[in-house]
Amino acid sequence: MTPAEGAGAGAAPAWVIRDLGRADLPWMAAQEVRMFGASAWSRELIQHDYLYGLTRYRGIELDGGLVGYSVYGYDGDAFHLLNLAVVPEARGRGLGRALMDDFMAEARHEGAPDAWLEVAVDNEIALALYRAYGFEDVRIRRKYYQPEGLDALVMRVQLSGYEPGF
Ligand SMILES: CC(C)(COP(=O)(O)OP(=O)(O)OC[C@H]1O[C@@H](n2cnc3c(N)ncnc32)[C@H](O)[C@@H]1OP(=O)(O)O)[C@@H](O)C(=O)NCCC(=O)NCCS
Repeated sequence: MTPAEGAGAGAAPAWVIRDLGRADLPWMAAQEVRMFGASAWSRELIQHDYLYGLTRYRGIELDGGLVGYSVYGYDGDAFHLLNLAVVPEARGRGLGRALMDDFMAEARHEGAPDAWLEVAVDNEIALALYRAYGFEDVRIRRKYYQPEGLDALVMRVQLSGYEPGF
């Protein structure tokens, strides 16, 4: 898949989205622990899913360094966002939106009828981001996030007739 570039004020792009390589996985695993604590994806899970899962690992670089990532996949039926994160130091600059644009573009490119995700019910920032992309509440999955036992909201967006939220 081709990299995507984001607009900056000058000639050089402010950010670049690219596929993560195997060499990037230890960095991602370290960010998971830093950002998600006990419910982080483990290094073993990441490496196994990267090698054998029906998933795509994407990273976003700012000034040549990785500052965020997404994981998504298509099983031929549903397009699914499995992970999305921007490191705390780089938040609030549109990088989450850029990763969502990349996810939505790929879902549409694959011809998926809809896209799905789960988000913690108390994650107001992510909820606002997803709602801006047209995601709507479907149902609650009780105690989805372990070991915390936090409920997840399942969200879906229909892709036919999709209009960007930004
Ligand atoms: C969710 C996350 C990826 C957003 O990344 P980001 O780069 O800060 O997001 P952006 O700067 O692109 O902002 C996108 C939208 O998110 C929402 N948002 C971002 N920061 C916000 C804040 N401080 N308060 C409220 N809403 C906020 C807004 O809707 C914003 O759109 P706007 O700029 O038009 O108002 C980031 O906060 C993150 O990594 N959080 C921890 C991991 C996480 O919760 N991931 C989601 C798991 S389901």
